[in-house]
Amino acid sequence: MSKTIIVSNRLPLQVKLNENKLEITPSVGGLATGMKSVHKEGDGIWIGWSGLTEEELDESLSKKVDTAVAKENCAAVNLTQCDIDNFYYGFSNRTLWPLFHYFMEYTEFEKDFWESYKAVNQKFAEVVLDNLEDGDNVWVHDYQLLLLPQLIKEKKPDTSIGFFLHIPFPSYEIFRTFPWREELLTGMLGADLIGFHTYDYERHFLSSIKRILRLDVKFNEVVYHDRIVKVDSFPMGIDYKKFHQASVSHTKMNVKERSELQKRLDDHIQSSVDTKLILSIDRLDYTKGIPNRIRAFEYFLNKYPEFKEKVRLIMLSVPSRSNVPQYQLLKKETDELVGRINGQFATVSWTPIWYFYRSMPFNNLIDLYTSADVALITPVRDGMNLVAKEYVATRTKKDGVLILSEMAGASKEMNEALMINPNNFEQIADAIKQALEMPVEEQIARNTILQKRLERYSVEKWAHEFMKSLDATKNLGQVIVSE
Ligand code: G6P
Repeated sequence: MSKTIIVSNRLPLQVKLNENKLEITPSVGGLATGMKSVHKEGDGIWIGWSGLTEEELDESLSKKVDTAVAKENCAAVNLTQCDIDNFYYGFSNRTLWPLFHYFMEYTEFEKDFWESYKAVNQKFAEVVLDNLEDGDNVWVHDYQLLLLPQLIKEKKPDTSIGFFLHIPFPSYEIFRTFPWREELLTGMLGADLIGFHTYDYERHFLSSIKRILRLDVKFNEVVYHDRIVKVDSFPMGIDYKKFHQASVSHTKMNVKERSELQKRLDDHIQSSVDTKLILSIDRLDYTKGIPNRIRAFEYFLNKYPEFKEKVRLIMLSVPSRSNVPQYQLLKKETDELVGRINGQFATVSWTPIWYFYRSMPFNNLIDLYTSADVALITPVRDGMNLVAKEYVATRTKKDGVLILSEMAGASKEMNEALMINPNNFEQIADAIKQALEMPVEEQIARNTILQKRLERYSVEKWAHEFMKSLDATKNLGQVIVSE
């Protein structure tokens, strides 16, 4: 029976080494959930990096990792510390990530990073080829592995390969600055189906294909050598039921079952009935527009001083890629901004910003989502943004207002949110006021539509649609042969 091989930089597992003992926990991330059904079908296997380097593992530990991940139908790609420095922190996160998010000034075009990226994509290819049998499909994920589709296609031309990019594909004017642009595009074209979150990313990609590779593009199909490569958009959803049901259970919790965080949130709500909570959650990443958000909140407090002591911003920033200098600078800037604004506005009974720099378990995320009157999501550039969708899914009474940046892929499907330009503080301040004053009937009307859409296009559906489309590309190849 044929199977699907899923490949992503990280495995859907967290592998940790605690005093020479391995601890393996399943990841609760969106991708892991969405791919569950694809992964479980047949003898599906997921290939990725375990999170530990070769230097951290001696021979016996390395075997133990292999056995433990194999039990979860996964296979680990072994990476050295040097790979992590140059491929992961280097090319993936100091070159591709900033460039694809329009941060040209942060982009480093380093030859050593590029060499490492090619070598690590080759390492991934070897593990895929070791596990690949005739008739299998391969689904490759994200910007860390742009060269992988071609590396597999060269060796196994009959394999059906899908590729999905989880971040934006930038406009041609940005992409053309990239020194190894032809190689990246031909790497991706090894796939039979290339998926993006939005039509705009798809359009940008096709424009680069036409102008850089001078290939023939018909609608959303690229003629490449003797194949047709299909390009399409598949906006990724969330596990709607999981978030919705978790918040239904949350409302039924008695006092003893409530988390410490929820008790603090309850205290806040009870102490002043007319004080509202605005929530933001993201990885601490410069694409998320965190300093802008804090400054816009400050602007709001100055423009509408009647809201002082009546509103609080709860900001959860999850540590991320902290070895990259830009992330360290952002951490410093965020700390300073929060400190300055709290120092300037706080009273004995009110702190305007509650700031958490950590990751939080799922139940605490539900505490935050269900307690917040408003979600303020202001990325300056974001491939999709699932937090916006998760917030809406947890609103079991259908109240709550989502303020969303038009620069997030999610904005394309969430028209009922209050849409803002993350660089326009005036507009954000007005949107916050509008959200805080919005009649509950209007909140319900907006969320009813949003929830229906999110429920229908869940992450499982997303994975299923992609696989269905990949299957359909098998016939495209035959059309060309018979012509
Ligand atoms: C984004 C990327 C993912 C990545 C995740 C976390 O969502 O699209 O590919 O896994 O960030 O980043 P990290 O560098 O920790 O894997």
